[in-house]
Amino acid sequence: MKGLVAYFSATGTTEKVAKNLAKATNSDLFEIIPKQKYTDEDLDWTNQNSRSSIEMKNLSFRPEIVNKIDNLKDYNCLFLGFPIWWYREPTIVDTFLEQYDFSNIKIIPFATSGGSGMGSIKENILHIAKNAIVEDGKRFYSNVSVDELKNWSKHFVNC
Ligand SMILES: Cc1cc2nc3c(=O)[nH]c(=O)nc-3n(C[C@H](O)[C@H](O)[C@H](O)COP(=O)(O)O)c2cc1C
Repeated sequence: MKGLVAYFSATGTTEKVAKNLAKATNSDLFEIIPKQKYTDEDLDWTNQNSRSSIEMKNLSFRPEIVNKIDNLKDYNCLFLGFPIWWYREPTIVDTFLEQYDFSNIKIIPFATSGGSGMGSIKENILHIAKNAIVEDGKRFYSNVSVDELKNWSKHFVNC
């Protein structure tokens, strides 16, 4: 069975890690694409009224996604990547997690950030993702190598 690396990335940092992780684990790659792309203005966390501030202040916010995985059952492991926003997963990742039944699928979160760690992200995902097994995830620097990612991924049996 194959793994899948699914990721959301607003400015390309997580995307770089996701692509290297897909290489490292010989996994397929899926980009979570927002219906409305995030502009620099949207991402301004110093502005309380920016789109990202509004979406992250109300954690029941569910930004729309345009694409869907239609063969999730073909995978046993899902590496799920995103930038850390306000110490947690962006609400669009919650939109993603609510869309599927994760029976028999292990979710392994990974993230990039300006410095924050994974916090309560595992618990958040367990709460939202139906029937999923969720592993402890890891936050990576944007320049993490394929070899380092390969070593990390070895912790997860059958992925
Ligand atoms: C709205 C917003 C909130 C953020 N909140 C945090 C945070 O709480 N902690 C942190 O270390 N970095 C934070 N960052 C920085 C991003 O996590 C970091 O730049 C990330 O690598 C961007 O990934 P991307 O290029 O894949 O979107 C935030 C960035 C944005 C836009």
